[in-house]
Amino acid sequence: MQLLKSVVVALGVSVGVAASAVTAQAAEIKLGVASALSGLAAQYGAAIRNGFELAAEEINAAGGVNGNTIKLIVEDEQGKKEEAINVYKKLIFQDKVLLIFGPTLSNSASAANPIAQAAKTPVFGTSNTADGITSVGNFIFRNSVTEADVLPVTLETVVNKAGVKKVAVLYGNDDVFTKSGYDNFAKALKDHNIPVTTTETFAKGDVDFKAQLTKIKASNPDAIVLSALLAEGAPIMVQARQLGIELPFVGGNGVNSIKIFDLAKGASDNLWVGSPWSLSNDTPENKQFIEAYTKKYGMAPDQFAAQAFDALHIVAQALKKVEITGDVAKERAALRDALPDVSWVGATGPFKFRQAVDKAGKPAGYDADQTPIVSVTKNGAYEIVK
Ligand code: ALA
Repeated sequence: MQLLKSVVVALGVSVGVAASAVTAQAAEIKLGVASALSGLAAQYGAAIRNGFELAAEEINAAGGVNGNTIKLIVEDEQGKKEEAINVYKKLIFQDKVLLIFGPTLSNSASAANPIAQAAKTPVFGTSNTADGITSVGNFIFRNSVTEADVLPVTLETVVNKAGVKKVAVLYGNDDVFTKSGYDNFAKALKDHNIPVTTTETFAKGDVDFKAQLTKIKASNPDAIVLSALLAEGAPIMVQARQLGIELPFVGGNGVNSIKIFDLAKGASDNLWVGSPWSLSNDTPENKQFIEAYTKKYGMAPDQFAAQAFDALHIVAQALKKVEITGDVAKERAALRDALPDVSWVGATGPFKFRQAVDKAGKPAGYDADQTPIVSVTKNGAYEIVK
């Protein structure tokens, strides 16, 4: 606030009375970003932070929201539940943000989001794709399309395009996202009558997957269905190729990042994934995003950056309807009320929310209503499957 005021006051010196009028009105809108900037999930978290910072810069350069400036308060939740809870408490009670973006992993979101719901502070997930994240309550939103929505489409595509008739399944059984991915793959496989040759598991932090992959190889599948985060998913692909397994991998949101090309160097081909966003999708909004991101950060974005970028634009639309008076509780409630009706065309394409329900089937938070694009990796790039 202090900095903003001094900037506006300095402007007032040169442009006179008009700028002084702005001084009285302009405020900072504080939004929290809880992202994994260190630890194993930082592969996603850094891109997420970049996406938010690019969007904030654009929105503020275009005059902010009703003349007010967006100020992001970025905190590292380290991809850990306990840290996510600490960061939420700081952002809600100390910084008094109007909304929290994040945290990166569904595992952390499922632990921290109830705190925000109880404190009537909106949460906007941009990377959480597990079941049940938005069942917590009416203050929980996300624009990350769920595994439940994406995996059946990805699976159907690989069956139709790669002639897959039977699969082996490999998943992490101690993480909210990888377990949810498994549940949704299992359902989709059953719905499509696709036999499973074997189901193998691993745990967070595992580094040697040869025992599971050897069993998978012996079971003779046509593809490997993989529910993993990058930290385990990348070495799984490397070790599979080392064992001479050249089968397609069918993955979820956790392995849908260009980071896979570095982490699984030389072993990242033939990975099938789905998401509304693709680097190769050349809509005007996406082209503009990719160009601006690449210029600012000197590297291409991934879908995590794109989701974050769009999320801040969606929130900015809702903020237009929020009167900034300094009454944080009122502002949080008004922002929550404005969000469900926002529709937006961004880097990830046309976006709107879909009401989610709680365990009893009653209306709760809001999920993304978007259509996934399926891509397959080839020579270190994602290719859209038409
Ligand atoms: N989509 C992954 C999760 O929800 C990153 O945990």
